[in-house]
Amino acid sequence: MSLTIGDIDAVCNLVNDLCGICLDSSKSYLIESRLGQIVEKHGCKDYAELVKKVRLGVDSQLTNQFVDAITTNETLFFRDKYLFEAFQYKALPELIDARGKTAFPTRVRIWSAACSTGQEPYSLAMTIAEMIPDVHRWDIQITATDISDAAISKASRGVYAKHEIERGVSQERLKRFFYPEGDGWRIRDEIRGMVSFNRKNLLEPLGQTARYDMVFCRNVAIYFTREVRQDLFRRIAQTMVSDGYLFVGAQEFLADVGPNFTPHQHCRSSFYRPNLTAPVPHALVRS
Ligand SMILES: C[S@@+](CC[C@H](N)C(=O)[O-])C[C@H]1O[C@@H](n2cnc3c(N)ncnc32)[C@H](O)[C@@H]1O
Repeated sequence: MSLTIGDIDAVCNLVNDLCGICLDSSKSYLIESRLGQIVEKHGCKDYAELVKKVRLGVDSQLTNQFVDAITTNETLFFRDKYLFEAFQYKALPELIDARGKTAFPTRVRIWSAACSTGQEPYSLAMTIAEMIPDVHRWDIQITATDISDAAISKASRGVYAKHEIERGVSQERLKRFFYPEGDGWRIRDEIRGMVSFNRKNLLEPLGQTARYDMVFCRNVAIYFTREVRQDLFRRIAQTMVSDGYLFVGAQEFLADVGPNFTPHQHCRSSFYRPNLTAPVPHALVRS
């Protein structure tokens, strides 16, 4: 089924309204390849009719299928070596030292926003397990969220095909943190238990404030307009403790998102720390 200019506009506007993602007419191949089957499956005469059906909002399954199809879930384990080094050798040790002086010395809260199929939060959990020998005694929670139901359910299962494992997992980590299942590999309970998965749209309210010690929001805001990015990072700052760490994608820079974060450098990687006007309490300081 061929796309008209009107179809492209209708689809792009809907994608923008649902997910904040900016598509334009140069992405018509993407629209056709990802939505063509849904148009046919739901008996729509064209893309504009599919858009109308989704906009009606009565068929949540259809909306989910639309979102699953249009989002780009590209990810891999330990994506961006330098960022993981900054996490492992700079942010995590500093955080552990800082928390040691509080009433909750073993509590760590991390948010992997736009976690896709789970490789990012599991990579963080594996790194933590390597850094903290008695990790089972710690109170670690990695909250992993994504707008795509399909991505979240795959992430929750924690089972990966050989080709997915080969993208980033060393033999040593494979032996330690996975076991074979069918043709693939399942993440061990020790790592799975550190991560909880939920569906969350970053355009919607982010919930509780001053909660996260670290936020990873990588390779998603690049698809948003400048205004949406600015608003998102302003709201993300509010979810973080005052001495928290924010990590963004290797190709992302927060220079244009306003005064909410200050950049820091570790070797070949950058991270950000929130500039909170009013101090937000982190773990209660021991008297
Ligand atoms: C390219 S993946 C990035 C995954 C991972 N953070 C990484 O860097 O490897 C982008 C993810 O953002 C999600 N996404 C897109 N729009 C979103 C939104 N409005 N709210 C939450 N997640 C969104 C997509 O479903 C996709 O899984």
